[in-house]
Amino acid sequence: MSALFTPFQLKGVTLRNRIAVPPMCQYSANDGLINDWHLAHYTSLARGGAGLVIVEATAVSPEGRITPGCAGIWNDTQAEALAEVASAIKRAGAAPGIQIAHAGRKASANRPWEGDDHIAAEDARGWDTLAPSAIPFGAHLPKTPKAMTLEDIARVRADFVAAARRALAAGFEWLELHFAHGYLGQSFFSSHSNQRDDAYGGSFENRSRFLLETLAQVREVWPEHLPLTARFGVIEYDGRDEATLEESIELAKAFRRGGLDLLSVSVGFTVPEVSIPWGPAFLAPIAERVRREAELPVAAAWGIDSPAIAQNTLAQEQMDLVMVGRAHLANPNWPYQAALQLQVERPSWVLPKPYAHWLERYQVSQ
Ligand SMILES: Cc1cc2nc3c(=O)[nH]c(=O)nc-3n(C[C@H](O)[C@H](O)[C@H](O)COP(=O)(O)O)c2cc1C
Repeated sequence: MSALFTPFQLKGVTLRNRIAVPPMCQYSANDGLINDWHLAHYTSLARGGAGLVIVEATAVSPEGRITPGCAGIWNDTQAEALAEVASAIKRAGAAPGIQIAHAGRKASANRPWEGDDHIAAEDARGWDTLAPSAIPFGAHLPKTPKAMTLEDIARVRADFVAAARRALAAGFEWLELHFAHGYLGQSFFSSHSNQRDDAYGGSFENRSRFLLETLAQVREVWPEHLPLTARFGVIEYDGRDEATLEESIELAKAFRRGGLDLLSVSVGFTVPEVSIPWGPAFLAPIAERVRREAELPVAAAWGIDSPAIAQNTLAQEQMDLVMVGRAHLANPNWPYQAALQLQVERPSWVLPKPYAHWLERYQVSQ
């Protein structure tokens, strides 16, 4: 049996294979409300054969959106629209997942194709941003955030809990807390962005507090039989990598003790000056170390876009699931193509008959 096409069970959810579509913002919502674009997009990804489709970073509050086009789940109308997506993903045979998020000091930005920078101060589309400390990210995101008060921290934690409740009611079966990529959760953990001198800053324990408290409170409303996961940047590539990785592994152990079921291992993106060793599956050895030392199932993305690489990372037990992002935008039927390339017997099961019947006999010329 191919490693890639072996089912994966986590709590009460069984994925039909080890291929996951990671969250990818579509920047196409209005006031956080998703629409037909999202429904078609996620339906086609699920029909393409992935075991798990995770809906994009979905903001727990208006100020938690990255851009004005980001999805939100802070009201029931938004949740009802998301419920249609969850149901379509499930009908197509994939597990419906969602990432809930707060963008922190990286919020209030223009869409990537409109510049990817902070919305100008005089532009009414922008809003005030929140972070552990009043330190801007820098580079293209120069806006100085407000340092959160204890009341702000409690409110955002409660927003995550309310978002988790709505995600559950909407029919999602896999929840991912966005603690990565320099957004709010990640920025509490990193001393680059967290210079607080209260219970939420300074020591490892204090910098972990917001993340662990949020996890604990979400775990109370997210049922035990459904996977509760997080995405977290375990390394920054800022020159202090071993120290960051060791702390991250300690945090991953604390996540496990706090009821986390799987960690999606990623990069911190908390500082602009980094030297990232981009390349095929460059995070796989890091994911393997987190998996082994923290004794937690892991997934990872970044450059796992060829079926052979995906298969190898799984066969070498570097991760439990592969996250295939941009390759799925290029070809929503990536799992089907992977099954053909890896010569998995009768791969047509991953694709609905109206496509599979023809594609089994037809090779697209390069
Ligand atoms: C269009 C786009 C949107 C993204 N949005 C998110 C997001 O909402 N949440 C997240 O954690 N990562 C996001 N990412 C990162 C992807 O999940 C993934 O880690 C990245 O694309 C690398 O994987 P790949 O090499 O397979 O594409 C996004 C990436 C892209 C290309």
